[in-house]
Formats: sequence, C-alpha cells, structure tokens
Amino acid sequence: MSVRVRNLVLMVLLTAMTGTVFLARRDYSKKNVEFMPGMVEPAAYETQAAAVVYVDGNAARAPSRGTIARGFDPLPYTRSAEDALRAGFELRNPLALVDSADNLARGAVVYKNVCSPCHGPGGAGDGLIPQRGFPPPPPLTAPHANSMKDGQLFHVITFGQGNMPPFAAQAARDDRWRVVMFIRRLQTAAIAMTPAQQ
Ligand code: HEC
Repeated sequence: MSVRVRNLVLMVLLTAMTGTVFLARRDYSKKNVEFMPGMVEPAAYETQAAAVVYVDGNAARAPSRGTIARGFDPLPYTRSAEDALRAGFELRNPLALVDSADNLARGAVVYKNVCSPCHGPGGAGDGLIPQRGFPPPPPLTAPHANSMKDGQLFHVITFGQGNMPPFAAQAARDDRWRVVMFIRRLQTAAIAMTPAQQ
C-alpha cells in the first residue's frame, strides 16, 4: 500500500470515527443507558420516594412512638422554670469524672466564645453586650447561681431562661457540660477570693 493510499484510508477512518462520536453524542442532562442495572436499583424504597404501601404515601418513616434512636440521648424538658428545677434533680454531668483537666480547658474556651460576651470573662455579668444596653445577666458567682444544681445550669444553657436565649445550637451537648464545669471553677475561685477582697 502506498503512503498516499494509506493516508487516505486513515483519513476516511478518522472522519468516520469523528462522525460516529458526533452522531452518538449523549445528552448529559438525561440518565445514561443502564445495562443490567443490578444493585444500582435497590429493591428497597429510596429515602425520599413515594411509597404506596403507607397511608401517607411517604417512604421516609418517623421513628415509632416510644423508641429511642441508637446513640441519641433524649432530653425530655421544655424551656420552663419547673423543667429547669427537674433537670437539676434528674441530670448528672456525664463528664464529671473523666479527664476533667481537658474538659475544663474546653469549657473555658466555649465559655469565652459563647457566654462571656454577656456574662463577662469572670461571670460578673459585665460582658460587652450588656455594656451596650442588653439587660445584664445576674453574676454567675452570686449565691443564686452557686445554689443551682449542675443539671439546672445545663438546662439554662440548653433552653435559655428569661432574656437569655437557648445555646444548644452553639454549644454541643458535651461542651455544655464542660461549660458547667467551668462555671463551677469560676464560682470556687470567686469564693476563694472573697476573704482577700474584704
Ligand atoms: C445574649 C446574652 C447572653 C449570653 C450569650 C449568655 N447568657 Fe446566660 N444569661 C443572660 C441573661 C440576660 C440572663 C438572665 C436571664 C433571666 O432573665 O433570668 C442569663 C442567665 C444565666 C444563668 C442563670 C443565672 C441565675 O442566677 O439565674 C446561667 C447559669 C447562665 N445564664 C449561663 C450562661 C452560659 C453558660 C452561657 C454560655 C453558654 C450563657 N449564659 C450565655 C444572657 C446571656
């Protein structure tokens, strides 16, 4: 085969291939052709799919009444003073006995970021926000806060109280217990300082 003929054949082939690719171009907005889809289409319903077997037509099901999701600890309280008191009696700090130095250090960080803007660095209620007109919170080192139980402090942080909004979204559950530890530390430090100040 002369070079000329060979080049001609190659050219025809190239044109044919380019043409085929062009003609067979797929529409990327559509699902590709599936050959033997197998496990791509599971027998079970997709989470958000419609399901004829249920009365409400949803494949996504709410948990059955009275069940608790694995790894989820319920917090059966509302934002009320009675529930705060009840939390004080029922809840125990689950971290109290575990590596408390680390927990305390983390509690200090969370307190600084989330609480000190209102409660002030030492808990005196003199943060920047009250300095600019927000109703000042009572000192966390005052007898009232001292007498609150751990679970009650946890409840106030989680659900808020009076002018204080809830902080469950800003501080994770364990972090809220760490903040409780840190408040206790502030309170003991304040009590230790009192005789010197007198
Ligand atoms: C936006 C300002 C603000 C922030 C931020 C804030 N608080 Fe408060 N806090 C208040 C106010 C105001 C009160 C008084 C609420 C009331 O009216 O009873 C209060 C009350 C409290 C009390 C009850 C004190 C008592 O003697 O009754 C505790 C405990 C407390 N806060 C802890 C915290 C902790 C811990 C954080 C951080 C996770 C935090 N607060 C963040 C404003 C704030």
